Amino acid sequence: MRNRLVIGNWKLNGGLAQNESLLAKLAADVDGRIGCICAVTVPFPYLSQAKSRLQHSGIAWGSQDVSRFESGAYTGEVSAAMVAEFGAKFTLVGHSERRVIFCETDAVVAQKFGSAQRAGLTPVLCVGETLAERDAGLTEQVVMRQLDAVIAAQGLAALVGAVLAYEPVWAIGTGRTASPAEAEAVHLALRQHVASVDAQVAGDLPILYGGSVKKSNAAELFAMPNIDGGLIGGASLVAEEFLGIWAAL
Ligand code: PGA
Repeated sequence: MRNRLVIGNWKLNGGLAQNESLLAKLAADVDGRIGCICAVTVPFPYLSQAKSRLQHSGIAWGSQDVSRFESGAYTGEVSAAMVAEFGAKFTLVGHSERRVIFCETDAVVAQKFGSAQRAGLTPVLCVGETLAERDAGLTEQVVMRQLDAVIAAQGLAALVGAVLAYEPVWAIGTGRTASPAEAEAVHLALRQHVASVDAQVAGDLPILYGGSVKKSNAAELFAMPNIDGGLIGGASLVAEEFLGIWAAL
């Protein structure tokens, strides 16, 4: 059976004091459950704090991005190996905010995916269409293109042990969630796409939904057969919300 996951994405939020209180609340409440993983992805400077506060808890931690490079003259970059040194298990790659605001191409995202895996991190590959793309009927074409770029660069076997996250751009931070049926249709299409090459890899691949997931809508999304959990932005900053989403998994 594939793992189910709830992963928080703090984005550009936090501060030492405020993290302290959030992490303490999460660590006190998250129970270990077989086959279920709870994690937070934090800004790089807080990896050390996440490690010290979460290492004896049921919660894993990670980063929201990694460099595609391993070392050298790349001012401002942080390598996957550096992130791994802080006990991180995960990193997001290809979040839509990275793709749109920081102009990351499919090819760059694919390189980052490979760098993460070589450093022993589990990449959480984010894919998703914009509203214009959805309205033009291009949803499946866009997400398959984003996924295929990784498969082409790293091989299908690279999906073993990885995590996929479907995040429609129009649902991120907007309060507008994809309906469970809308999300499930894309998750199913993604799984079938992988299954057309390897059914085992497809069956084992967790596919998370992200985009305005809240305590109040998590259960209906997670009840869908191909939705294996959630990638949570805004609601991951509020302990009660995030814990409620975890409880719904
Ligand atoms: P949101 O963000 O839950 O605030 O919509 C999700 C994400 O960007 O990962």
